[in-house]
Amino acid sequence: MPQQVRGVVARAKGAPVEVVPIVIPDPGPGEVVVAIAACGVCHTDLHYREGGINDEFPFLLGHEAAGVVESVGAGVDSVAVGDFVVLNWRAVCGQCRACKRGRPQYCFDTHNATQKMTLEDGTELTPALGIGAFADKTLVHAGQCTKVDPSADPAVVGLLGCGVMAGLGAAVNTGGVTRGDSVAVIGCGGVGDAAIMGARLAGANKIIAVDRDPRKLEWATDLGATHTINGAEVDAVEAIQELTGGFGADVVIDAVGRPETWKQAFYARDLAGTVVLVGVPTPEMTLEMPLIDFFSRGGSLKSSWYGDCLPERDFPMLVDLYQQGRLPLEKFVTERIALDQVEKAFETMHRGEVLRSVVVL
Ligand SMILES: NC(=O)c1ccc[n+]([C@@H]2O[C@H](COP(=O)([O-])OP(=O)(O)OC[C@H]3O[C@@H](n4cnc5c(N)ncnc54)[C@H](O)[C@@H]3O)[C@@H](O)[C@H]2O)c1
Ligand SMILES: [Zn+2]
Ligand SMILES: [Zn+2]
Repeated sequence: MPQQVRGVVARAKGAPVEVVPIVIPDPGPGEVVVAIAACGVCHTDLHYREGGINDEFPFLLGHEAAGVVESVGAGVDSVAVGDFVVLNWRAVCGQCRACKRGRPQYCFDTHNATQKMTLEDGTELTPALGIGAFADKTLVHAGQCTKVDPSADPAVVGLLGCGVMAGLGAAVNTGGVTRGDSVAVIGCGGVGDAAIMGARLAGANKIIAVDRDPRKLEWATDLGATHTINGAEVDAVEAIQELTGGFGADVVIDAVGRPETWKQAFYARDLAGTVVLVGVPTPEMTLEMPLIDFFSRGGSLKSSWYGDCLPERDFPMLVDLYQQGRLPLEKFVTERIALDQVEKAFETMHRGEVLRSVVVL
């Protein structure tokens, strides 16, 4: 029997989100219904609300979540009723040209639930990143559920489902940060701070945080930055060079995603160094630079989708490190809120007052 639960829906571009009844179908083949325990508020939810992702309103928002499997459809054997899972937006297909070449982190055909969740009147909902977890329950593909240690706090480990994984993976997977590296991170929100935490985990010996907000620089230090630069007060490129013997950092991560921050990342790295773009630019942004600079500086210029993570490989490992006290994931949870406070959380996020607000159900 389809069931009716509460969900946070964005009906139209720019309109405040609303908590409304939504209808969850029984899981079909390969699908799973998950009872959500917690879901973080990510910048991408706001992008959806503002029409910045696509026009497929109404959206069911929320995508950084953990919960418990309530029911499974035919053929599901990777998870069972009662399993504690973190949801992901990279259920790899195993069949596309990326998967077949052994690079599933680039999978071009990731799985989502086939059936649609709807409003009461039958209007189909578009779940954010194929998840839609600002809701009592949601319907996903079984591959979007990764089992982790059930004793972990869902508000904390749910954050691995998007921003924290994206930032940590940008450093560790995409950037290949290793011991002894110097690393600079531009933009110290949830994603940038997770990159800082990842750089420390990987053994970087110099971790430089750049932001324009002094409060963000304090949090970055708490998560492992060894040096901080206020980009509103000094030239970030010169400051990074000064801190690295005049050369620049081995890996520079742009966790803002604007032409000016990417250029800073490009010029603030050492010769043959690596730039990782993990912040998401908007379609109208462009870049004009001397081509010779690309050639003469060598190295690699990369972008990082979801931190090049593989949920099955990475989530359980990171939860273990958190449980052992070796990864301070709990520091990303700035506040715990109710389902009807998502709109307010967007404002708090906009003012830069949080790393993450987390809806707890
Ligand atoms: N690649 C992915 O898979 C992925 C996944 C999740 C989020 N993201 C993206 O990562 C980006 C960051 O997300 P977030 O949740 O950390 O956002 P956020 O708003 O919490 O953080 C952005 C930070 O950048 C700082 N900043 C802004 N302009 C700056 C500048 N010119 N110089 C220095 N610092 C500046 C802000 O003060 C803030 O601290 C967003 O674009 C988001 O969409 C990417
Ligand atoms: Zn694939
Ligand atoms: Zn997100």
